[in-house]
Amino acid sequence: MLQDKIKQYTEEIEQFSPASAADVENFRLKFLVSKGIIKSLFEEFKTVPNEEKKGMGKALNEFKQLAESKFENAQLEFTQASDAPKRQEGDLTLPGEGFQLGSRHPLSLVRKEIVEIFKKLGFIVSEGPEIEDDWHNFSALNFPPEHPARDMQDTFFIKKQDGNDIALRTHTSSVQVRMMEAGRPPFRAIMPGRVYRNEAISARAHCFFHQVEGLYVDENVSFADLKQTLFHFVQELYGEGTRVRFRPSYFPFTEPSAEMDISCTICKGNGCNLCKGSGWVEILGCGMVDPNVLENCNIDSKKYSGFAFGMGIERITNLKYEIKDLRLFSENDSRFLSQFETEMI
Ligand code: DAH
Repeated sequence: MLQDKIKQYTEEIEQFSPASAADVENFRLKFLVSKGIIKSLFEEFKTVPNEEKKGMGKALNEFKQLAESKFENAQLEFTQASDAPKRQEGDLTLPGEGFQLGSRHPLSLVRKEIVEIFKKLGFIVSEGPEIEDDWHNFSALNFPPEHPARDMQDTFFIKKQDGNDIALRTHTSSVQVRMMEAGRPPFRAIMPGRVYRNEAISARAHCFFHQVEGLYVDENVSFADLKQTLFHFVQELYGEGTRVRFRPSYFPFTEPSAEMDISCTICKGNGCNLCKGSGWVEILGCGMVDPNVLENCNIDSKKYSGFAFGMGIERITNLKYEIKDLRLFSENDSRFLSQFETEMI
């Protein structure tokens, strides 16, 4: 009788307690395969008189569910399909699985390198806020109000209701001001950080990038000190024998101002695509701190003088690694980033 069989097998299944994966497999072969017991009981079910079908069908389905869940649980317990008598945690004597370490971003690598070089010259590292006010980003740096010099840098402004507009800093020169306002000379610091400009994103421009600002203020600081410091920096960063040249330029916050070029890192000055055949590439702006800037920060410009410089970390990195598209720096493409895994940490 079907009913008796269901009862008998139910007892058997309830008592089933496998000791190995093989027991579990035997269970499956006995009950669950297409020639197994469950299938045969369902065959037998077809012969049950109609008036008993309802009750018997329910019992049969419950039995089927019991067998299936017993099997699933037993299988979970022996997932390793091992014949070992007890559950195994894996072979503890095997070497561990390595996991992939991240790597430093190329911009971080280069920023660190720049910082290290200047640290050896006694420069400390100073940082300032990325959200700035007009005073620190422009006015204190001798940008006159409404002067077109402010257009040199397309600024992201945020209009505030109280009229005290704020801006995302367009350069790290703002940190010079904060530093000088907060202390007394001598100052010898470099200031790395992110800056923002309202530019369309392309291979050559981005709405944010990174700069390192440098400032040295003391008694009797001269342009010769500026040249020697930057010359030394270039030798350290790009290697002995890299030549430098200074071209007169204009910045509101320095007087005199200059831009510094180095002999092209790719063609060593012979002329190539990167330097557009000139043999030189520009890497930074610099100059003697304008006395107005010192006075704006309550520093006696008769007693003290100083030099300042500012460079884009992306540019320095491009010259070092020949990266042609600025967008790569912020896309987080691991195919790009993983190329720097072996670089210094
Ligand atoms: N702030 C300038 C810029 O963003 C870079 C710069 C030029 C910084 C000359 C300086 C400097 O300190 O003396 O383009």
